[in-house]
Amino acid sequence: MDSILVRGNGPLKGQIPIAGAKNACLTLMPATLLTEEPLTLTNAPRLSDIRTMTQLLGSLGAEVASLQGGQVLAMSSHDISSRHADYEIVRKMRASILVLGPLLARFGEAEVSLPGGCAIGARPVDLHLRALEALGAELDLRDGYVHAKAPKGLVGAVVDFPIVSVGATENALMAATLAKGTTVLNNAAREPEIVDLARCLRRMGAQIEGEGTSTITIQGVDRLGGATHAVVTDRIELGTYMLAPAICGGEVELLGGRIDLLAAFCEKLDAAGVSVEETANGLKVSRRNGRVRAVDVVTEPFPGFPTDLQAQMMALLCTAEGTSVLEERIFENRFMHAPELLRMGARIEVHGGHATVHGVEKLRGAPVMATDLRASVSLILAALAAEGETIVSRVYHLDRGYERVEEKLSACGALIERIS
Ligand code: UD1
Repeated sequence: MDSILVRGNGPLKGQIPIAGAKNACLTLMPATLLTEEPLTLTNAPRLSDIRTMTQLLGSLGAEVASLQGGQVLAMSSHDISSRHADYEIVRKMRASILVLGPLLARFGEAEVSLPGGCAIGARPVDLHLRALEALGAELDLRDGYVHAKAPKGLVGAVVDFPIVSVGATENALMAATLAKGTTVLNNAAREPEIVDLARCLRRMGAQIEGEGTSTITIQGVDRLGGATHAVVTDRIELGTYMLAPAICGGEVELLGGRIDLLAAFCEKLDAAGVSVEETANGLKVSRRNGRVRAVDVVTEPFPGFPTDLQAQMMALLCTAEGTSVLEERIFENRFMHAPELLRMGARIEVHGGHATVHGVEKLRGAPVMATDLRASVSLILAALAAEGETIVSRVYHLDRGYERVEEKLSACGALIERIS
């Protein structure tokens, strides 16, 4: 199994191109199931999660051709032969549940394995199911599968989400495009990935209003057609690499970066003493003089501070001057990076959903273990700023969400390599 070896060696300088968003691509790909015409995605990221979704769509009979080294995905769901999303694939990736809404909307039936728990908390799918039920689906949960039926098709309805859920909003949005009549999604997620999905669906002929706000209204249509759509920039990859010069010093330009994707995060960087400037090609990030300052962070749905950047921000705050408190409000078990950071000399106390980080002057390299996708990259960031050598093992988590991480960082002068 591969590991990543990092030797901390001071300031970084250079440019990092930011890929298309994993989380947007994982919801845009199932949208192919809504139409018999071709759907083509450009600016797709090259990640193992995308390959898993390719495998899942393939198992249903969809064709997914990976072109231009994986940056273009040409898909066709003309000949869907199965409505069964098998446990063997679904268990690898939670986002697999996103095939449920589209299959049900187009074919009136679907059988999708329940994804089960995952490392960062229980993560149920009840909100997905309740939304589809509101649209008239009959659901039966047995043998670990959701058996869903809508023999006469889905019917538009008002769906009130009790809490904001990105995935449930996506599933309901896709399903509602082919439902009869009007659907209103209240307390919908406002993430840029939702906006991107709505834009793509509109290109396919869907009638949608209000994406990016908490009320989305969809007027169902009889059929959707093909489209070509460019995947939005990955704001989490962007934020992760913005933290590299923040933690190591130096100056890095993030190509394709946009402040509007990460406004709350950029405010925190500013408060910590990290400068973020817009350039013609993206964003330039540099650390002002000396150590960063401690800041408090609370994770929230968009436009708040993203939970997917909490681990990486913690790595930065480990070396800040002063004490920071991070509060995780989205997932209940998302501080598994803390014990690994402790091994590198950090001072962190975790109490329930809060982590108190007392900044230290220097971290020290150590063998550490990745526990999930964002945790693994937080350890790499910490290692870049640490004295000595760090080996991060179990990096298959990293490959789910970051393409060519070693290349992107070493192009800026980091000493980082993959070892088998
Ligand atoms: C998506 C992202 C993930 C990110 C998360 C929050 C993808 C593929 N993944 O995950 O990277 O961390 O948004 O920004 O886009 N919940 C329920 N019942 C449900 C669904 C969710 O209780 O049916 C809870 C979850 O346990 C969590 C909260 O709602 O506490 C938000 O989760 P949600 O927004 O649904 O996250 P995902 O869509 O799974």
